[in-house]
Amino acid sequence: MTDLSHQIAKLRQQLEHANYQYYVLDDPSIPDAEYDRLFHQLKDIETQHPEWITPDSPTQRVGGAPLSAFSQVEHEVPMLSLGNAFNEEDMNDFNRRIKDRLNTTDTIRYACEPKLDGIAVSLLYENGILVRGATRGDGATGEDITQNVRTIPSIPLKLLGDQFPPILEVRGEVYMPKAGFDQLNQRARDNGDKLFVNPRNAAAGSLRQLDPKLTAARPLEFCCYSLGRVEGAEMPEYHSDILAQFGKWGFKTNPESKVVSGVAGCLDYYQALAQKRNALNYEIDGIVFKVDSISLQQKLGFVSRAPRWAIAHKFPAQEEMTTLEAIEFQVGRTGAITPVARLKPIFVGGVTVSNATLHNMDEVKRLDARIGDSVVIRRAGDVIPQIVKVVLENRPADAQMISLPKLCPVCQSHVERIDSEAVARCTGGLVCGAQRKEAIKHFASRKAMDIDGLGDKLVEQLVDEGHIDSFADLYHLTAEPVAQMERMGEKSANNLITAIAASKKTTLAKFLYALGIREVGVATAQNLAQHFGDLRPLVKAPLDALLAVEDVGPIVAQHVINFFAEPHNQKVIDELIRIGIHWPAIEVVAASDQPLLGETYVVTGTLAQMGRDQAKTYLQQLGAKVSGSVSSKTNALIAGEKAGSKLTKAQDLGIQVFDENAFLDLLSQHGITHGDEAE
Ligand code: IVH
Repeated sequence: MTDLSHQIAKLRQQLEHANYQYYVLDDPSIPDAEYDRLFHQLKDIETQHPEWITPDSPTQRVGGAPLSAFSQVEHEVPMLSLGNAFNEEDMNDFNRRIKDRLNTTDTIRYACEPKLDGIAVSLLYENGILVRGATRGDGATGEDITQNVRTIPSIPLKLLGDQFPPILEVRGEVYMPKAGFDQLNQRARDNGDKLFVNPRNAAAGSLRQLDPKLTAARPLEFCCYSLGRVEGAEMPEYHSDILAQFGKWGFKTNPESKVVSGVAGCLDYYQALAQKRNALNYEIDGIVFKVDSISLQQKLGFVSRAPRWAIAHKFPAQEEMTTLEAIEFQVGRTGAITPVARLKPIFVGGVTVSNATLHNMDEVKRLDARIGDSVVIRRAGDVIPQIVKVVLENRPADAQMISLPKLCPVCQSHVERIDSEAVARCTGGLVCGAQRKEAIKHFASRKAMDIDGLGDKLVEQLVDEGHIDSFADLYHLTAEPVAQMERMGEKSANNLITAIAASKKTTLAKFLYALGIREVGVATAQNLAQHFGDLRPLVKAPLDALLAVEDVGPIVAQHVINFFAEPHNQKVIDELIRIGIHWPAIEVVAASDQPLLGETYVVTGTLAQMGRDQAKTYLQQLGAKVSGSVSSKTNALIAGEKAGSKLTKAQDLGIQVFDENAFLDLLSQHGITHGDEAE
């Protein structure tokens, strides 16, 4: 081997191993940054020497050119379907049929596996290299989706080891894990795109893309469950051993798989997995039981398109149809008004469901839901039941359109809906009972006024019993009524009153954050405080002055203006200041004292001597803009311990990198000595 081919082989082997550890075993062996580094090294060599590129190279997963249509694939060994069992009786019948046909009284060994809710796929390997991927289709003919399956990281492009049959067809399920499905739908919802009804449809839709780059962007996984064609080698005598062999060749097999004895073992397994179903990170719609002995499977054979030696014992359905009887509008903690569907009670996913969230009015519009409609309800696991579809064919003539109320159902303030936002909100703010408690909880929280001992439950009790109604009321509280609250005594009440008084000494940034201005989080509050130095100039700031603040765009700026323009907010602030809330003045550094003006810095990793927020504040004091991601516009990166992909990217782009010591030096050069000031 030449040096280069040796280097390529080594990089590929390292990447394949890392990929296998990460996607097949769920046990990452190297940090992402190291993987990226090795990948880019290989990619660079391959770019310079395209003649060395092979289809099994890890660089070849990303997705090639789009197809105009899928070609057809004949399955030499048909891809079968399964008969169903819905209860114990069906399972006993299945077991009895098998024993009768085998003419035996022996207890049968069954291999048990979760029935993954995805798409059946066949993968063909020639001399250990993936050469074809196909859908099941009608069982005899499927579609060639080779380009798409190559993008799925848990599918080996090349088998591990060297003891494999020259021709090997592995079958299994491509599925989308629950978390990936939720993220995909959340993104679609944010973009106003159509949502997928369930992970199975999402997996099917993702696999049937003509452009493999689209498939590559979807979080798909593959888990194998059976053998198709095999030539040139003997396979083990038991199905369970075949699966174990697949694992050794680099495939993902289901860790829940188990061999049991007789139908009693199957029923126990079914119960155990039913308990575990919600905790699994992928969806299953039942259990597949298979006679473990391949020779017995062969004796049993098939009836129509299903084997006699296997059955799917189904779980209760997670999707059902019912009637949408009414809509109620609930007011949430930020004033968000959420339509909630009242349903004709229906048993779905193991429980009776009578409510479902509709998220917002865009969702109502997207679904085109009307009162009186038949709707498909989905309740997967512990998640809140959702309406995934309206059955338009069943729409009654008197179905009623749903519209947003003009007034808040709790406080009768106006409901506002900004065009760019999906959510409608009550404008009542602290006046609205639904929002008051949450506003006070936020005000007291650690990153806000940091009132030790004032937890959520206590705020609720104090509001419910009429002791507080506003932020300012907190500062008028006395220990006596507090001591009467649940789980409080005199001592804890006194401690709380002391903590409330202590919170009067704060910082401008914390105070701004505590006010609960929409879209003003900790970082924005800090930027506003740093920029304006005090409350007065901020309250009066016009739009263009706000837009000059780091990371403040037109939406945030408008929220700030609206907040201070509201007379009742102004009253709240005046009162708090009168009560004695105060903060140290911030020196606003003149532009001439800002040596890093116009430069963009990024902070990553863990700094030993300060938090990242503190590092950011220092950089901002020096005039730098602090961004969250590294790009060609970044001037320098501050990298603490365990810096990951941002560090690699900065190195790749040749950007200056400061470690913590170099950063401290940089600060002191510009007159900042960390650790000087008291907190
Ligand atoms: S075995 C001859 N095992 O269920 C047996 N199927 O209706 C063929 N499925 O199309 C299938 N998990 O997509 C088998 N552990 C598992 C499975 C499984 C899911 C799907 C498969 C098949 C359908 C059967």
